[in-house]
Amino acid sequence: MNPTIQKTALITGASSGIGKAIARTFLEKGMIVYGASRQPGRLEKGIRPLLMDVADPAAVEKGVEQIKSETGRLDILVNCAGISLVGAIEHHSPEEADLQMRTNFTGSLNLIRAVLPQMWKQRSGLIINVSSIAGRVALPFQGIYSSSKFALEGLTESLRLELFGSGIHACLIEPGDFSTEIVKNRIFCQASQGENAYADNYQRAYALMEQEELHGPGPERIGQLAWKITRLKNPRLRYTTGKLMQRLAPRVKNLIPDIWFEFILRMNYKIKRPATPSSFLISNP
Ligand SMILES: NC(=O)c1ccc[n+]([C@@H]2O[C@H](COP(=O)([O-])OP(=O)(O)OC[C@H]3O[C@@H](n4cnc5c(N)ncnc54)[C@H](OP(=O)(O)O)[C@@H]3O)[C@@H](O)[C@H]2O)c1
Repeated sequence: MNPTIQKTALITGASSGIGKAIARTFLEKGMIVYGASRQPGRLEKGIRPLLMDVADPAAVEKGVEQIKSETGRLDILVNCAGISLVGAIEHHSPEEADLQMRTNFTGSLNLIRAVLPQMWKQRSGLIINVSSIAGRVALPFQGIYSSSKFALEGLTESLRLELFGSGIHACLIEPGDFSTEIVKNRIFCQASQGENAYADNYQRAYALMEQEELHGPGPERIGQLAWKITRLKNPRLRYTTGKLMQRLAPRVKNLIPDIWFEFILRMNYKIKRPATPSSFLISNP
């Protein structure tokens, strides 16, 4: 990318949390920043608003067309829009699972498909996909969320190979737990509420997750990280960020046998064998 040109960035999820921090940092650094949101009124002053549900390809195309017609270029895409559903995998309804994948994975894909023709025209560009450490280490009771991030990781790995030598770069930011509105915006699978075989493990694991998020670092450091990535000639595939233990988890996973790593995760999330319900004993003598 030519460093003398004022860069134009499109950031999804710019109304809150990590996306908002990235948008603010880019704006402070002098970029033209477009923020996509389903509620563009929530975007900060100075961010150019785009009304966009990332799961709607027509809205995505329209937003990208607006940027091209107003600035004539598009240098950086940050795919940050995301939601987090929690519950046992068995308890996700088809609609709940679809919403999770459509937002976190297909939404990012919609944006990538929409911006690439312009980036090819420029022969330059940068795509930053905000994944998660849960995209490297799958978490209990966030199984579909983790799957959406694993899918995003795979997409980014393939994309980098396909874009080799094109001048267009793609990379991943993998945050650990950060204090944002993710807890407030969380969606709970209906069927996981109340009595069921997973209830005790679910409640213990979820309580830990929520505490880690509520007491996690603020998202400003991810704004700075994203800015640093925009300055690099050849960004790496992955940038992990967060508390040390969380950043180490993917490395440890690669180093030790799966069975040991599962044991560590079970200890961490206090996963125990489910008690045999008395109703089961009565109906199955
Ligand atoms: N916070 C963490 O601990 C953490 C850890 C790892 C990864 N992440 C990832 O970081 C990203 C941002 O999360 P956050 O923590 O900043 O959460 P957040 O504060 O809840 O923000 C979520 C953002 O996503 C947008 N969004 C959700 N669904 C959308 C849709 N269908 N179309 C357009 N925008 C949509 C929201 O915008 P509107 O509601 O205004 O449309 C909002 O700006 C997510 O991809 C998340 O998975 C977060």
